[in-house]
Amino acid sequence: MKCKRCRKAAAAIELPSHHSAFCPECFFVFFKRQVREGIRKHRLLSPGDRVLVCVSGGKDSLVLWDVLMEMGYETEGLYIDLGIEGYSERSREKVEAYARERGKRPVVVELAKEGIPIPEAARCIRMQECSICGTVKRYFFNRVAAEGGFDVVATGHNLDDECARLLGNLLHWQRDHLARQHPYLPESGAGLVRKVKPLWRVSELETAAYGFLKGIDYVTEECPMSVHATSLVYKEALSLIEESMPGSRIVFYQGFLDEGNPLRRAAESGAADGGEADGGTEGGEAPHPCAACGAPTYAETCTYCRLKELVRKRREGRSKEAAG
Ligand code: AMP
Ligand code: FES
Ligand code: ZN
Repeated sequence: MKCKRCRKAAAAIELPSHHSAFCPECFFVFFKRQVREGIRKHRLLSPGDRVLVCVSGGKDSLVLWDVLMEMGYETEGLYIDLGIEGYSERSREKVEAYARERGKRPVVVELAKEGIPIPEAARCIRMQECSICGTVKRYFFNRVAAEGGFDVVATGHNLDDECARLLGNLLHWQRDHLARQHPYLPESGAGLVRKVKPLWRVSELETAAYGFLKGIDYVTEECPMSVHATSLVYKEALSLIEESMPGSRIVFYQGFLDEGNPLRRAAESGAADGGEADGGTEGGEAPHPCAACGAPTYAETCTYCRLKELVRKRREGRSKEAAG
């Protein structure tokens, strides 16, 4: 099959959702156009922004960093070492190697040094790894950005991620989560930095193809803690739908983001009564600094500090038990 754009080279990737097929060079043009359109549509970034790109070592976030650099944004990478044996070291190596080749050094936060490595923390307080991990990552994304004077935090969530999350939120009618699901979350007072998802228009297959064709070396293994994640079930269901009705994902998500969508408006007004515990962007009340660390929160201390304190206490209790 020939590339449908240049009509000369052989197509390397077929995209039924766009009724198209591209050779590598034309695919790069297509992909960047999609990202640019995603940024433009919701005004995610401005030309002079200093962007903190959160990179996990996986395809999406390294591709995001690559594309933003090519587009001329001023970027730095942030890697959070979750303390997951083997997986964290391998991911970190990919991030550092990628950065090194481009004359950069990522900011690295080591959760083991912070006293809250994910597997141990989960064992101590008997919580799901993924939910602790989400809280801790969000905390450091914002803290590193605020301390480093960045204008915006960017993550590599793609269309498949956003659709899976939307489906999950709809299935459980999570009105407050629905209200906060957007590729653009504005900054707010007390040190909450703007958060954006510039890859919201491109699928997982497209980012994987972009990374592969560009020769970006990323970790292909999934986090070992995420094998039972419900998001994988939603992704599978959506893949089935997409297969028989190409283009369903983008219609689903774009329709949700549409300002005229009554569901969106209803969800937003629902969230206005409660706001979000920490990083809330809705709600009448403004967040104030956490009494322990200064991060923006609606409570006395932020969720991260409470988690960390709980882990510290349980760890102390356990070592006393072991000694006695
Ligand atoms: P996930 O929650 O694993 O699907 O990751 C979503 C996005 O969060 C990725 O595309 C990255 O931008 C960011 N991210 C995930 N894990 C890390 C990490 N360990 N360090 C920095 N950023 C991360
Ligand atoms: Fe968070 Fe695996 S537990 S990425
Ligand atoms: Zn705190």
